[in-house]
Amino acid sequence: MISAEDRTFLLKLILLILYLDWAICAGCDSNQLLYTEIGCKPIFENGSNSCPVAYDCENVFIRSSDNCYLNGNVYSPKDNISRIDSELSLCVSGCFCDQRTKNNKTTTAFTCDYDQCPSYFSLLSEGCYYKFDNNLCCETESYCQNNNYTIHECIYDGKTYKDGQQFKIQNDYQCVCSPEFNGTANDKFCRKFKCNYELLYMENILNRDAPLYYEEKNGCPINWYQSEYEYDFGTVEVNGTISSNSHVCKYGNLSVPIGQQLKIDRLSTRNSESDTHKTICTCDTPPLITCITGKKTILNDKYNMHIT
Ligand SMILES: *[C@@H]1O[C@H](CO)[C@@H](O)[C@H](O)[C@H]1NC(C)=O
Ligand SMILES: *[C@@H]1O[C@H](CO)[C@@H](O)[C@H](O)[C@H]1NC(C)=O
Ligand SMILES: *[C@@H]1O[C@H](CO)[C@@H](O)[C@H](O)[C@H]1NC(C)=O
Ligand SMILES: *[C@@H]1O[C@H](CO)[C@@H](O)[C@H](O)[C@H]1NC(C)=O
Ligand SMILES: *[C@@H]1O[C@H](CO)[C@@H](O)[C@H](O)[C@H]1NC(C)=O
Ligand SMILES: *[C@@H]1O[C@H](CO)[C@@H](O)[C@H](O)[C@H]1NC(C)=O
Ligand SMILES: *[C@@H]1O[C@H](CO)[C@@H](O)[C@H](O)[C@H]1NC(C)=O
Repeated sequence: MISAEDRTFLLKLILLILYLDWAICAGCDSNQLLYTEIGCKPIFENGSNSCPVAYDCENVFIRSSDNCYLNGNVYSPKDNISRIDSELSLCVSGCFCDQRTKNNKTTTAFTCDYDQCPSYFSLLSEGCYYKFDNNLCCETESYCQNNNYTIHECIYDGKTYKDGQQFKIQNDYQCVCSPEFNGTANDKFCRKFKCNYELLYMENILNRDAPLYYEEKNGCPINWYQSEYEYDFGTVEVNGTISSNSHVCKYGNLSVPIGQQLKIDRLSTRNSESDTHKTICTCDTPPLITCITGKKTILNDKYNMHIT
């Protein structure tokens, strides 16, 4: 029997492995999927319509703390999410709006179960692979190649996928390879790629925690630095001054100006750093900090980071 914690860890590990392969578009996409999913509005500097300098999330931050919010729908404590909302989110089930009081603090957030796919816990024989359905979380079958028969392959962004295999189009779509896939995302074989931020991470977002991503600055976080607890691990500080008129990121009650690093003691200890690996938290696109961890060479190449 595996504990819930282990299962969550396993799931994270599996998601992590899945994400390693996926194409990442560098640039001004820091926290983009997060902000988009929860309904923040991009703020553009004059004359630019490509790269938001920040997002306006006030409409999210002022939501009632007695309700849960999902895809524009409002749920009261104990409500189960609707079928339609449920179908929009793969790989979680039994979600309901959960109100809890702990240490005199009441929180209202969704509680969900993570789906457990058989493939998470089994190894494939050689020459076999998992086939997926666009509308289901788990694999539908493990398919073993018969040499007499050629399997249709899709090529996307330089990578080859076999009929039924899943792949991601940036952080926008998740698709399943099919003979009818012609190279562009469509409703039949692709669905909007989601991290389910509103279902899984609203408490982190409202606390102004910092999402930690693996070797990219967008997509689904592998963890969060929790502003509320991080002080217990040492100091958290910003190196630099804050000019009053610019946008700032928040880490709990701490303000971090755009371009500044947030120094969290724990980042330099606890396995997060080594000769080859590094974890860095910066204010790229307010209102939240962006933390990235991974191989120094990859972070340097992808984000021009000059880490030594
Ligand atoms: C944007 O345009 C407004 C009005 O045209 C101007 O007052 C402001 O200084 C401009 N901001 C930037 C960052 O260029
Ligand atoms: C929510 O769903 C569970 C089963 O999934 C059911 O037992 C419960 O009664 C439902 N709650 C409401 C408020 O509908
Ligand atoms: C919770 O609130 C009550 C009454 O205000 C107080 O007596 C108690 O010490 C509080 N408990 C905690 C853990 O803060
Ligand atoms: C593959 O083809 C050969 C010769 O055509 C045949 O003998 C064999 O049974 C086929 N194998 C399968 C698994 O269909
Ligand atoms: C792919 O198919 C869609 C409609 O299914 C069409 O709009 C699109 O232009 C096609 N793309 C290519 C590259 O053929
Ligand atoms: C803080 O910033 C200053 C100037 O930008 C730099 O000289 C100094 O080394 C920084 N301190 C730390 C601890 O990074
Ligand atoms: C911010 O929060 C931390 C931890 O909760 C606390 O120690 C600190 O005093 C707070 N700072 C301000 C300026 O409120």
